[in-house]
Amino acid sequence: MHLYRSRVLQSVIIESHFAIYLRGYEMVVRQKYNIIDMDKGTLDRDIFVGEQIYQEELEKVFGRAWLWVGHESLIPNPNDFFLTYMGEDPVILTRDAKGEVHAFLNMCRHRGNRIVRADDGNAKNFMCSYHGWTYSNEGKLVSVPGLQEAYYGELDVDNLGLVPVAHLDTYAGFVFATWDKQAPSLESYLGDMRFYMDIMFNRREGGIHLFGPDKWLIRTNWKNPADNFSGDMYHGAISHGSAMIVREKMLSQGNAGPRPNPYAQPGNQVAAGNGHGCYVNVVEHSADLWNQQGQQRHPALVDYEKSILPEIEQRIGHLRARRTRTIHHTVFPNMSWLNNGTVRMWHPRGPDQVEIWAFVSVDMEAPDDLKHLYKLASMQMFGPSGMFEQDDMDNWRNAAEAGRSTIARKYRQNIAMGIGHEQPHQDLPGSVVPRMHAEVAQRGMYNRWQQFMNAESWADIPIDPITAKFEGTAGMKG
Ligand code: FES
Ligand code: FE
Repeated sequence: MHLYRSRVLQSVIIESHFAIYLRGYEMVVRQKYNIIDMDKGTLDRDIFVGEQIYQEELEKVFGRAWLWVGHESLIPNPNDFFLTYMGEDPVILTRDAKGEVHAFLNMCRHRGNRIVRADDGNAKNFMCSYHGWTYSNEGKLVSVPGLQEAYYGELDVDNLGLVPVAHLDTYAGFVFATWDKQAPSLESYLGDMRFYMDIMFNRREGGIHLFGPDKWLIRTNWKNPADNFSGDMYHGAISHGSAMIVREKMLSQGNAGPRPNPYAQPGNQVAAGNGHGCYVNVVEHSADLWNQQGQQRHPALVDYEKSILPEIEQRIGHLRARRTRTIHHTVFPNMSWLNNGTVRMWHPRGPDQVEIWAFVSVDMEAPDDLKHLYKLASMQMFGPSGMFEQDDMDNWRNAAEAGRSTIARKYRQNIAMGIGHEQPHQDLPGSVVPRMHAEVAQRGMYNRWQQFMNAESWADIPIDPITAKFEGTAGMKG
């Protein structure tokens, strides 16, 4: 148990579940979780290993937050379905005959059997394989064997449909859902992060197509990969050093010049509000951006990107289309992506295991041969056996496992990089450290986790206001 102190007026109204004591003008708030010191940048190791904490976060984080559950391109046709998860709960994403998208708990209302066993498919109805109760893809219980004979016609069929999520909404074709009726709108939840999401996902009229997912398990806590994608550019030069050298040699056909100091490169680490984070570089001139892209992409993809620039600029404005480059991103808690097209859904599987679902995002309107090239380029680096992917997993595993040691547990993690250097940026929303390397996004993410874990309900969870200037025609619905 830790203490958080703040000076407030003696007449403060106390409405919290926290134990609060008033001493003169000083209020001492005793809250359950105080896992991060935002002044020193230190972090408790228990949150990566504790079974009890894990069970609580399934309820308080995954049971409340807007979670990314799928994409409309995964269920393009009437009656398509896609099996996904919200935390550890299996969820069926369906598109009904009229085209409307739904999400239901994959659980039969009779004895609890899972209704859908396939990863995806096309079906108007789902029959439970245990006793045969059958549900429509709109969630209604439409058939019960022996309804008249065995149940005397008395079963409350109308109230035994599949359990729906509390809210479902989409951003640019990405489907999000929450179990919590009190959750704010998806637009508020994404907040300023949408400014950065648009750069990858909302730049074309036709939207994106998600391929995949590849699925695999790794032994680490789910927060490690989410944290890594939110703000850990720092590991790149070391963890991925050899892969970077190989890639540069390959793309330059052996003519790569001397490697610049990776710690002196320009850029910004951003805590984008509401626990989300990313890396963004803003260049003066568009040509600088193409220089960077040219070193890292197949020439055919660079040419294609140049050809679609006018449309991108019209949709997301000059700054985001021509002068910014984002690399790594996390929408708290379960969605991450890299600018090379890999998009991640993190599914917790116990305190020490996470199931990774890796998709590849490709412009829907790109020609097929280029779609193939985009997929290859992404998977060579970040597929399950990608050159870069394999560098990460063992580091995440070890970082989390330190929390099991009775000795190591006494020494908190250090996430202090760039602390005290957060500042507003004239072009970028969020709290920005104007360096390529900083841990501002991770501090934002763990602080958000703590807010969720200490809150009694959504009423206790603050929402950061939207401050971004959204130039261009792209909106929430694409
Ligand atoms: Fe599904 Fe009995 S458990 S019909
Ligand atoms: Fe990495």
